[in-house]
Amino acid sequence: MIFGAILAGGVGTRMNISQMPKQFLPLGDKPIVIHTIEKFLMCSRFDKIYVGVNPEWKLYMKDLIDQYNLDKDLIIIVDGGTDRNGTIINILESIKYDFGDRDDHVIITHDSVRPFVTLRIIEDNITSVLRTGACDTVVAATDTIVTSEDGKVISSIPNRTNMYQGQTPQSFRVNLLYDLYNDLKEEERETLTDACKICVFRGYPVEMIKGEVSNIKITTVSDYKIAIAMVGGKGLD
Ligand code: CTP
Repeated sequence: MIFGAILAGGVGTRMNISQMPKQFLPLGDKPIVIHTIEKFLMCSRFDKIYVGVNPEWKLYMKDLIDQYNLDKDLIIIVDGGTDRNGTIINILESIKYDFGDRDDHVIITHDSVRPFVTLRIIEDNITSVLRTGACDTVVAATDTIVTSEDGKVISSIPNRTNMYQGQTPQSFRVNLLYDLYNDLKEEERETLTDACKICVFRGYPVEMIKGEVSNIKITTVSDYKIAIAMVGGKGLD
């Protein structure tokens, strides 16, 4: 079975313009997270779409789904975790509990704050993960990437032609990611905050899917302003 996993468990500390987690802020005519869920609903291949939400905001999320008339039969709201991987693990556990422990279950995880994901990107993820077990959405880096060990001087400037920027969706066989995560030591969990990094760390190949520059993540107020301009609409006053 094919499952969507919208990660909406964060509280958006870097945004800091509202009491509300950023995924609930208005973007044109509806909240950011509703745009994102609607993109997933455009794809007819999902058996269910899980949405991981901070427990304090679950009722609010449920009301939004009612208000915007989304297909309630397809959407399951579950508790988010204390970090992003924690939210993914809660969704993996819910899938195992709700639909059994099957090796052919795959999950398409996506940041709730990337509302401009396209149907093409979602479908390319599904096709890849069914074949490979793990894939990540990336775009070729346009800026030169500079690394620094101490944040003061440059340690290296890798060849730009080998550099990509990670986006989401990131997609996995449910059992693969669950088992890899549970095998990690506590200190490894603290550093492997990106789910694809867990696969890379364990030597499992992750196929790259072409993303889009427009598939931005709304992290800061300036990202939010760009997103509002992209929909040609209104945001928070
Ligand atoms: N996320 C999640 N569960 C968490 C933390 C984050 O599902 N415990 C989700 C966010 O809701 C977001 C995505 O992961 O859709 C990307 O995370 P990020 O932009 O870092 O969101 P926040 O954690 O909300 O923001 P910040 O780091 O500024 O607090």
